Amino acid sequence: MLAHPAAPEVACPRASRCRDDRTETNDGGAVPDGRLLAVSDLHVGITENRSTLDALRPTGPDDWLIVAGDVAERVRDVEATLRFLTGRFAKVLWTPGNHELWSTADEQSELAAPARYRLLVERCRALGVATPEDPYPVWYGPDGPYAVAPVFTLYDYSWRVPGVTDKQQSLARAHENGVVCTDEYRIDPAPHPAVDDWCRERVAATERALAAHDPGLPLVLASHWPLDRRPTDVLRYPDFAQWCGTELTADWHRRFNVAAVVYGHLHIPRTTWYDGVRFEEVSLGYPREWRRRGHPRGLLRQVLPYPGPAEQPVPPPPPADAKPDAKPSSKPDAKPGSTSGAKPA
Ligand SMILES: [Fe+2]
Ligand SMILES: [Fe+2]
Repeated sequence: MLAHPAAPEVACPRASRCRDDRTETNDGGAVPDGRLLAVSDLHVGITENRSTLDALRPTGPDDWLIVAGDVAERVRDVEATLRFLTGRFAKVLWTPGNHELWSTADEQSELAAPARYRLLVERCRALGVATPEDPYPVWYGPDGPYAVAPVFTLYDYSWRVPGVTDKQQSLARAHENGVVCTDEYRIDPAPHPAVDDWCRERVAATERALAAHDPGLPLVLASHWPLDRRPTDVLRYPDFAQWCGTELTADWHRRFNVAAVVYGHLHIPRTTWYDGVRFEEVSLGYPREWRRRGHPRGLLRQVLPYPGPAEQPVPPPPPADAKPDAKPSSKPDAKPGSTSGAKPA
């Protein structure tokens, strides 16, 4: 993380308030009284989750919304959801999750995952939704400005289980333990040989964009996969971590001027701090997950202005017998070989 003038030496839960107060935008206009909100893992293909969409409401006309992946598997569901949200929020930003990349039985079933992604980017642009392929929108709020960067980096099996040294061994261990992510059966990375090849390409391109970004304008990074491995420490099944990210992004929150990282995928909503940077897991998750834990911090997480820990208490880790990353056994798109209750979102 690049230091701003008042950067503390240690983690400061109100670091985003440590900069000079701004009352005007760069062009001299009044600062909008909006909030930067975030959510992920809406999984609207599940009827109960779809019924929660109407509750996703802004606090005012200037609010922005980050949608950090796993909206749905079907292109038309993703598009319809984002269209709905653009009707409510001043700006919507989207980055894909693994579910958007799955082959499905819809009209785009013939598309490999990179082509599906490009199609989704086209649909988003038609809606005015910002994607990882677009310039970073700048949020001017009472605590701004910040550049909000949707990033898409995938995973490369480098978050391996202890005791193994390469991808093949790590995957073999997962198969032995019966905890293989459904991505293995539903994501076709062609023309890339494998998802990790695609991941390395995505990381390199994203890294170039971040390096070219003005270091004086702090960033909010929005990713489906956590950019640091430490959030996966609480996974019920440690084998799942190999489908959750890459070591290649581990220092991004320190190298670049990052004020906060927004992510999902784990279905463990909480706030943690690493190296003085706030990480927000903002997922809705599956019905059996949110029925159990409720929505103690609301359906939408306020990223900026950061309201502080008093208003957003960090819930305790899930109980030892919880399966935060489980897949509903009733979902019709499970493939033979996938393990119910074993997929990380
Ligand atoms: Fe996911
Ligand atoms: Fe998910």
